[in-house]
Amino acid sequence: MEDIISLCKRRGFIYQGSDVYGGLSGTWDYGPLGVALKRNIMNLWWQHFVDSRDDMYGVDAAILMNQKVWQASGHVDTFVDPLCEDTVNKRRYRTDHILKDNGVDPDGMTMQQMDEAIAEHGIKSPDGNPLSKSRTFNMMFKTHIGATESEDSVSYLRPETAQGIFTNFKNVVDSFYPDLPFGIAQQGKAFRNEIAPRDFVFRSREFEQMEIEYFVNPDKWQEAFDELLKSTHEFLGKLGLSQEHIHELDVPAEDRAHYSKKTIDIEYDYPIGKEELMGIAYRTDFDLGNIQRASGKSMEYTVKGTNTKFVPHVIEPSFGVERALMAVLSEAYTEDEVDGQKRVYLRLPEHLAPVKFAVSPLLKNKPELVEKAREIYRSLKQKHGRVMWDDNGNIGKRYRRQDEIGTPHCVVIDFQTLEDGTVTVRERDTTEQRRVEVEEL
Ligand code: GLY
Repeated sequence: MEDIISLCKRRGFIYQGSDVYGGLSGTWDYGPLGVALKRNIMNLWWQHFVDSRDDMYGVDAAILMNQKVWQASGHVDTFVDPLCEDTVNKRRYRTDHILKDNGVDPDGMTMQQMDEAIAEHGIKSPDGNPLSKSRTFNMMFKTHIGATESEDSVSYLRPETAQGIFTNFKNVVDSFYPDLPFGIAQQGKAFRNEIAPRDFVFRSREFEQMEIEYFVNPDKWQEAFDELLKSTHEFLGKLGLSQEHIHELDVPAEDRAHYSKKTIDIEYDYPIGKEELMGIAYRTDFDLGNIQRASGKSMEYTVKGTNTKFVPHVIEPSFGVERALMAVLSEAYTEDEVDGQKRVYLRLPEHLAPVKFAVSPLLKNKPELVEKAREIYRSLKQKHGRVMWDDNGNIGKRYRRQDEIGTPHCVVIDFQTLEDGTVTVRERDTTEQRRVEVEEL
């Protein structure tokens, strides 16, 4: 993990948020290559789950929402983590993390059981001090809308994009009247005031989600669940993740979110261990039912040509973009040996690589080579966009630099190019070099 974090920083993928001022815990900034990789993942998701299907509708809802949304959704009351405190230095910790770090599995424990486990195992804070009893801590960031701060002006930074979908359910039905089942998809930022952000971008306070709420006839939820799970595995394949690193966890009732009747978590073997990459939850009519009660507006769907009406049930595949990105980087990070020297490269699938081609003149002080290389660079850039000009250092160094950022193809223009119009293409994974016609690129 340390190697990946250091590569991310050194090569312009991900920096600590507010780094210049000493950082802001739980926030990360994406550099030029990071934003490219992240967009490639998000675009692939959109293409896979929305554009290539007939039954998906996209939305982009506001991050700030009426506080009633979060009251009705249960987040004001139940979106909480157990928090305990070092009784001496007052540092705060997530009780379940303290247990996990001390080799006790907190899954399925109530808060009281966690406190009992801490007492039973004599667990102290990381600084060796006694820990307080736990209390709940709401993870939503609270803010105020407008110039006056009162109970009425309270709003929250959304902790999930899902509610922006549910609140637009009726709008989409009225505009498009889709047949059931159909889904509404959204990508965007979400915020959680994590007590202890950790593990790089894995658990941060500001992150990005890719979510679908898939509306179904209550009798047909299982087949929709299975289809979306299958489609999720196909998408994970497109991310280049190997099956042996992917595991399904049927989440037991006591560990499921408050809205879920069944959840399958997809876990991935990260360098930090096996952790959740995404989840598919059967949210029943929990959310639309709550909106109907709280707003007084009907969320019923009328089956076309009939008088049959019901509040649809929902299957929700929910991805954290950063967790997908971290899995992609973990899978791609490779060390090998080339010419007796250690090499680091990112074995990214070509369609995710931030840079697809690097173009170099063999020698940068030969104007005729530079001119030809520029011409080839421009034409490739027009076709593929993701093309980098690289004439720094010798060719060997350029290859290593491009390997580290996962560029699949390095194109080198030399004197032979001027004679016969062929270039050298050097492949990242094999380090093999071939001569090809420029048109072949
Ligand atoms: N919408 C599910 C989640 O944010 O975890």
